[in-house]
Amino acid sequence: MSGSKENVVVGFDPDGRMELIHVGEQPGHGAAVDFRRVTLRGVSSQPLVRACGERGRLLDTTAGLGGDSWILAAAGFSVTAIERSSLVCQVLRNGVDRAKSDSRLNAIASRIEVRQENAVDVLQANSDSWATIYLDPMYPPKLGSALAPKPIRLVRDAVGDDIDSLNLFLAAVAAQWNRIVVKRPHHAEPLCAEPDIVFKSKLVRYDVYVREGSSLRTIRAKAKS
Ligand SMILES: C[S@@+](CC[C@H](N)C(=O)[O-])C[C@H]1O[C@@H](n2cnc3c(N)ncnc32)[C@H](O)[C@@H]1O
Repeated sequence: MSGSKENVVVGFDPDGRMELIHVGEQPGHGAAVDFRRVTLRGVSSQPLVRACGERGRLLDTTAGLGGDSWILAAAGFSVTAIERSSLVCQVLRNGVDRAKSDSRLNAIASRIEVRQENAVDVLQANSDSWATIYLDPMYPPKLGSALAPKPIRLVRDAVGDDIDSLNLFLAAVAAQWNRIVVKRPHHAEPLCAEPDIVFKSKLVRYDVYVREGSSLRTIRAKAKS
């Protein structure tokens, strides 16, 4: 265990996998990271992957339980997965470590580096350049919408809403990148500026900002001055 927020703790399920779980729930009823379950057929044509552009070094600033990091690593990106919540990061790291010792998953898992940090600090250190910076901040659920899947509810209960996501976006804008990609629910406004390109999937859209695009030019100029 490593502390809890909103009744969420870290425990182990009966198969020995670390999981996020509500206090008082039976082991096995939480959310563990198990990449064996992820279907990767047609991964390169997924809107997430198409939005993230050319393969290269990708900074996932909001790694959560690593679902998006995994798909991007499977598509060939070299992913630095940043998660600031200690609870969530422990469960993610446990899942990636198990995948590294599974011969069928090792090639993908070895393209993911997990770090527990605030991504704003990583971006402000400005010591790296990234093909893509990816943001998927927690967004308040739409009133009256269907109950979110349990892993999403557990992460939300562990971390709350990411009310500082504009700050994260601005730190990304000031860093070195070829494109920034922001995942948003369809009903949400763009995080800050109108994107240069939008990729849509059934449930979400990906707002893409490209270095040569016009959208962030003013913000970047201000960030540099
Ligand atoms: C919506 S979840 C991400 C889900 C993830 N894309 C996935 O596929 O599982 C958002 C996560 O980003 C993390 N987060 C938000 N802002 C962050 C920041 N500035 N630095 C690091 N992690 C952050 C939150 O703690 C939360 O776990």
